[in-house]
Amino acid sequence: MQEIDWANLGFGYMKTNYNVRCTFKDGKWGEIEVTDSEYINIHMAATALHYGQEIFEGLKAFRGKDGKIRIFRLEENARRIAESAKGIKMEPIPEDIFRKMVVKAVELNAEFVPPYGSGASLYIRPLEIGMSAQVGVKPSTEYLFLILVTPVGPYFKEGFRPTNICVMREFDRVAPKGTGRWKVGGNYAASMAAGERAHELGYSAVLYLDPKEKKYLDECGPANFFAIKDGKYITPDSESILPSITNKSLMQLAEDMGIEVERRHILLEELADITEAAACGTAAVASPVAEIDDLDTGVKYVVSKDGEPGPITTKLYNQLRGVQLGDVEDIHGWNTIVEVNE
Ligand code: PLP
Ligand code: COI
Repeated sequence: MQEIDWANLGFGYMKTNYNVRCTFKDGKWGEIEVTDSEYINIHMAATALHYGQEIFEGLKAFRGKDGKIRIFRLEENARRIAESAKGIKMEPIPEDIFRKMVVKAVELNAEFVPPYGSGASLYIRPLEIGMSAQVGVKPSTEYLFLILVTPVGPYFKEGFRPTNICVMREFDRVAPKGTGRWKVGGNYAASMAAGERAHELGYSAVLYLDPKEKKYLDECGPANFFAIKDGKYITPDSESILPSITNKSLMQLAEDMGIEVERRHILLEELADITEAAACGTAAVASPVAEIDDLDTGVKYVVSKDGEPGPITTKLYNQLRGVQLGDVEDIHGWNTIVEVNE
């Protein structure tokens, strides 16, 4: 195996040993297959290619001090991808197949689970695509479900350092009753123009407003958003955002610490009264926010006065990492432990 500089990994693709696949055909899911090919043989008229029948997930496996590999909350990702499938008329993958395939993908690529202390993890990317040839706009009858894995470092290159984000009204990522609540590839295509514009201007992400009224906060690029206001953890309640498993976990950890949690509509103007903020997601973990600039009004909300991550964000981040790495007791039963003889 090639030498990997674990501590300096970015968030990118690296070839690993194997990926696992399962096909839905003739009304049923087939056997789980293992391959070392990085390619898919796909019909040129497949619904995934023309009409965007593509959904995906993202979860992580971590190596603990004890050498054990832990996969974080895979049942939640199994449920969410089944919801995404129903949302765009694809075939939901049964939870037991999802679980078996995630575990298999990790076992077969165990040597790519970064060492404890490196700060890196194994990113697990399940995806499902519509495979059958259709020219009319209708759902596929055949689906491929595939899981690839790749070792990753931090999503934002700054890691756990505050970055600036921006609000812009020029683009919407999703429609009010659209696909934002599902993890559909098309949502990310729709976010690229705004995301690239934000990057060109030096921002790490766009903080989207609700697409209907542009009054409330929605989410932050490929992550949810939370803030600390009057000592409370506040996070948007919206029908156009992805229900983040990281956010759900942080809300639980906040409650465990005695911090009040409010999931509600958050007005843009409330940003003037927050003391901390972060983007949270599997890839982003909890990435602290320094400043939020409204590109249309010129208002700048300075969140971190000293340029440091806030104390509550830091505590929540450490607690979440602690559970994921096995340093903190997993009282909610979030980890699936994979035993491998390496
Ligand atoms: N929101 C969007 C749009 C995302 O792509 C992600 C990433 O998966 C999240 C939020 C965070 O979700 P999770 O914490 O389940 O990874
Ligand atoms: C994740 O956090 O897992 C994501 O899917 C975000 C992004 C890389 C699309």
